[in-house]
Amino acid sequence: MEGQFIWDVDGRRYIDLHAAYGTAALGHNDPHVRSAVIEALETEGVLFGTAHPREVELSELLVSEIPCAEMVALCGGGGSDPLYFGYRLARSLTGRKRLLKFEGGYHGWHDELAVSVRPRLEDAGPADAPQAVPLSAGFAQKEGHAIIGVLNDPNILERIFEQYGRELAAAVIEPVCHAGGCIPIDRGFLQLLRDLCTRHGVILMFDEVMTGFRHSVQGAQTLLGVTPDLAAFGKAMGNGYQVSALVGRREVMSGLSPLGPAFYSGTFCGHLTGVVASLATIRAMKERQIHAHTQKLGDHVREELNRAAAEHDIRAICQSFGSIYCLYLGTDRPIRNYRDIAMDAHSKDSALNRQYRLALLEGGIYMHPYYSNRSFLSAAHTMEEVSRIVDVTIDFMRRNRDAINSRVSVPSGAARA
Ligand SMILES: Cc1ncc(COP(=O)(O)O)c(C=O)c1O
Repeated sequence: MEGQFIWDVDGRRYIDLHAAYGTAALGHNDPHVRSAVIEALETEGVLFGTAHPREVELSELLVSEIPCAEMVALCGGGGSDPLYFGYRLARSLTGRKRLLKFEGGYHGWHDELAVSVRPRLEDAGPADAPQAVPLSAGFAQKEGHAIIGVLNDPNILERIFEQYGRELAAAVIEPVCHAGGCIPIDRGFLQLLRDLCTRHGVILMFDEVMTGFRHSVQGAQTLLGVTPDLAAFGKAMGNGYQVSALVGRREVMSGLSPLGPAFYSGTFCGHLTGVVASLATIRAMKERQIHAHTQKLGDHVREELNRAAAEHDIRAICQSFGSIYCLYLGTDRPIRNYRDIAMDAHSKDSALNRQYRLALLEGGIYMHPYYSNRSFLSAAHTMEEVSRIVDVTIDFMRRNRDAINSRVSVPSGAARA
């Protein structure tokens, strides 16, 4: 893999829309990041095992860029780690147990957070009062600790806080829900959540594992103008190298060990390759001003696909935010919450989406199998590749118009609360 391309075992080249689960925001194997890592390997080693000046440098950089970041806890695993540390910290600070999360959101694989990620409609309860459904067998969840909200629905949010406000330790939300492809969250909804958390003494944690650095070095919290108490970062932070971080307000973060009683540790926390890669990634993002470029590419795909859908009378809608876009087939209503995509989510294998991915492959484009057609552009993509993606997609939509238009992607009566 290199830049915007990946190759299969037979040497065929594809335009990559996966970006290694969204991590490669600069493009694969970015030469600047690679050189920084090689230099560190040659001059310093891989794991210092105690505080290293480069960790301090990275922490200071995060504090200078991200609005909610006054203190930083670097983690060594993926994005799941800071989310779990954050939830534990919230429970420790508040003395409460419950978590508010939103149906369709994914916040890592820990038992207590991986709830109602893509539940089957049969299990999920009413659209206006979703039930908590574990993502996996074998979870050691305590019954009923998670309260499930509905994205973009302020009335349900207010009702939840009236009933559970004093029992909630934390509320966690992705400021743009990419677990569901690309579901923008209304700014007013995020602000209401912020206000309700403040009023009820609930720790608000943004999951910026996907949005962070990919949409802006300062996080989606800057773009949307709402500041959480805590935020978790990973993925694009190291452009493919393993690094993640919990950041937050000093008053809250001081509850983590060794300052406070909430345990935080890990052999690989602050691993030097990840730290060095992250410093190089963030600096390259700023120097190259990548976000203006990727925004232009994402906007172009969305506008062209929506224009073609309208022109050819095809029931499809493309939603994008910066460099991430998603084409929803079989509906032309804006996708606002999980119920709008639930039929696809629980099967993870809609025939139409599979056909679309195959058409892309035949056209030299790789989209990773997922329940939605979530696609990642990177700073390495150019208008040339993006035009190819648009052409192949429009050709697919036109050839499959009847199948798309007759598709039941939204269960009747279940889409809206
Ligand atoms: C929004 C979000 N949060 C958390 C995670 C978990 O990150 P990781 O798989 O690196 O542990 C992911 C991974 O896809 C994610 O998309």
